[in-house]
Amino acid sequence: MTSAHPGLIDRYGRRAVDLRVSLTDRCNLRCSYCMPPEGLPWLPKAEILTDGEVLRLITIAVTRLGVEEVRFTGGEPLLRPGIVDIVAGSAALSPRPRLSITTNGIGLARLAVPLRDAGLDRVNVSLDTIDPERFAAIALRRRFQDVIDGLSGAAAAGLTPVKLNAVLLRDVNDDEAPALLRFALKHGYELRFIEQMPLDAQHGWSRDRMVTADEILASLTTEFDLTPDPAERGGAPAETWLVDGGPAKVGVIASVTRPFCGDCDRTRLTADGQVRNCLFARGETDLRGLLRGGAGDEEIAQRWREAMWGKMPGHGIDNPRFLQPTRPMSAIGG
Ligand code: 5AD
Ligand code: SF4
Repeated sequence: MTSAHPGLIDRYGRRAVDLRVSLTDRCNLRCSYCMPPEGLPWLPKAEILTDGEVLRLITIAVTRLGVEEVRFTGGEPLLRPGIVDIVAGSAALSPRPRLSITTNGIGLARLAVPLRDAGLDRVNVSLDTIDPERFAAIALRRRFQDVIDGLSGAAAAGLTPVKLNAVLLRDVNDDEAPALLRFALKHGYELRFIEQMPLDAQHGWSRDRMVTADEILASLTTEFDLTPDPAERGGAPAETWLVDGGPAKVGVIASVTRPFCGDCDRTRLTADGQVRNCLFARGETDLRGLLRGGAGDEEIAQRWREAMWGKMPGHGIDNPRFLQPTRPMSAIGG
């Protein structure tokens, strides 16, 4: 089957070169579209991969499976004590993968320089509003200023382009697209809106209430002139536009209304060592058991290839029989 090909290919001809590694399922925010106010039953420590185990799996992915880019996610990945060492270990690999992190920005002011020195290339920071009161209403913590400081710290450290991820929620911040773009342009950050996906732990998502890409674009064009970005999109989930003729850009990740599954180049590893071939997959492949059972690198690599071979052609959110995955986004990684 897949053994003839060294990489992570699936039966639809896609090749996964972009690895998302969730380093923890915990978070210091409680964004309403992600987790309930009381938090979630976190993974027990014994089930979470150690730093050494994470690095071993990243090494296998990069040196045996053709992974070219590693993105660290959570939960909130900056809560992982070993984050700087994990980045440094990944940067020491040959060929050296591109390294980035998706974070809520809290703690980034302190960690930006150590992370850059360890070899991190870029950051994506989640920011859904530029109003501190709204921030507290959405994330249930008064940490707005920490995020803003994290952003400037990242830019000053050269973790650029700094990208911003924004999720718009109906009747909460759906009027804020132009203001977020003004903020991003002023600071030189690259803003992307993400359509809300059915991945929240509370199962509160509804297709009728989600803010669509069309609505986001309509709102932005009340203030900005948007022209399609001539640059090649490749496997990138964001569709991008030049703002007022460029060079500044704005992106929309329309996973729901304009799915891009056919070009997906991702493979995912959870904090407890499970491979997921899709954000919306209903099954997982256990690598932790193999690791702890003493398996060799090639055996683990082969299990990973098999996991990816079975990837579904698309997420099927619009199928009436769609079922949300059991794990919420915070335990998969974005
Ligand atoms: N739909 C869309 N985006 C989400 N994120 C978290 N949960 C959801 C969801 N249900 C975003 C976060 C972060 C990134 C990892 O994904 O805001 O920017
Ligand atoms: Fe934390 Fe990100 Fe979930 Fe917000 S969306 S609660 S920052 S994991």
